[in-house]
Amino acid sequence: MPEIVIRTEALTRDFDALRAVDNLNLEVPAGTIFGFLGPNGSGKTTTIRMLLGLLEPSAGRAEVLGFDVPRQADEIRLRAGALLEHHGLYERFSAWDNLEFYGRVWRLPRRERHARIEELLRRLDLWERRREAVGRWSRGMKQKLAVARALLHRPQIVFLDEPTAGLDPVAAPSLRQDLAGLVQREGVTVFLTTHNLAEAEKLCHLVAVISAGRLLALGRPDELRARAGLRAEIAARLVDETTLDALRRRAEIAAAEWRDGRLLVELHPGAELAGVIAMLVESGVRIEEVRKASLEDVFLTLIEEEKRCSPTS
Ligand SMILES: Nc1ncnc2c1ncn2[C@@H]1O[C@H](COP(=O)(O)OP(=O)(O)O)[C@@H](O)[C@H]1O
Ligand SMILES: [Mg+2]
Repeated sequence: MPEIVIRTEALTRDFDALRAVDNLNLEVPAGTIFGFLGPNGSGKTTTIRMLLGLLEPSAGRAEVLGFDVPRQADEIRLRAGALLEHHGLYERFSAWDNLEFYGRVWRLPRRERHARIEELLRRLDLWERRREAVGRWSRGMKQKLAVARALLHRPQIVFLDEPTAGLDPVAAPSLRQDLAGLVQREGVTVFLTTHNLAEAEKLCHLVAVISAGRLLALGRPDELRARAGLRAEIAARLVDETTLDALRRRAEIAAAEWRDGRLLVELHPGAELAGVIAMLVESGVRIEEVRKASLEDVFLTLIEEEKRCSPTS
């Protein structure tokens, strides 16, 4: 397998006057869970459809597993799994029969097919319910089965388009956990889209942030957080004006504010919080809790900056 499994160069897609994907340059290394993160309508699904050869680029190029899109799309589809917006399950079939059907489509030999179906259903905790028609299942269970379907033929890469969208707060983390486990065990590269930042942060090794079809940032979740300048919320007591002034004069600090029993601090990119905390403790401040900003804050900052830089879009 090539070391870079997805490469796009100035990949662009227009729908009439609308530029849905705008000069996208991406490289996804083998074995990563790659998060493609952006608000609704930012071009995530359009990108996946181009990478699978379901939609022609208007300009630019892309390759998946070393094969050119869309010219070698058949080669790609043989080696890729996908969970798109529609899960592709037959509601009147049982879970077992659904996977049996797709296993035959993939021409997996009977013995191997049955072993694989059992393995996946057990890993996803669906084995006991394999004979039930999936039409009556919860959305969470259907999504799990759809993941099994996407992984059935042991693809080298799997595309998951918002796999946890619409799942309740119990089902979503459960699917996320199963995904992380499966992916690690199978060594498959995952290209996952989401508009859920917490999800990207928990699950992904690398994250690309897009907005209006344009790539805003690419990096490890912790790098992205550092790049935007760390933000922290410190619940504290005994903070006085002198301490606040001293805090604001420190080299690490871009801004500091005292509000409702909380210190809101913003650090310069690359600065560390530890020295700040030590200084507060020395000044007699009683610290109750420190919460670092999530990727969500970074994401919102990036989108705000993008808007400020391009008032026309
Ligand atoms: N087939 C299509 N025809 C016209 N416009 C489309 C089509 N598919 C997507 N779009 C538009 O392209 C933009 C990006 O859509 P999409 O890739 O589905 O975003 P996302 O998956 O990030 O929510 C949206 O403005 C959407 O309305
Ligand atoms: Mg979408």
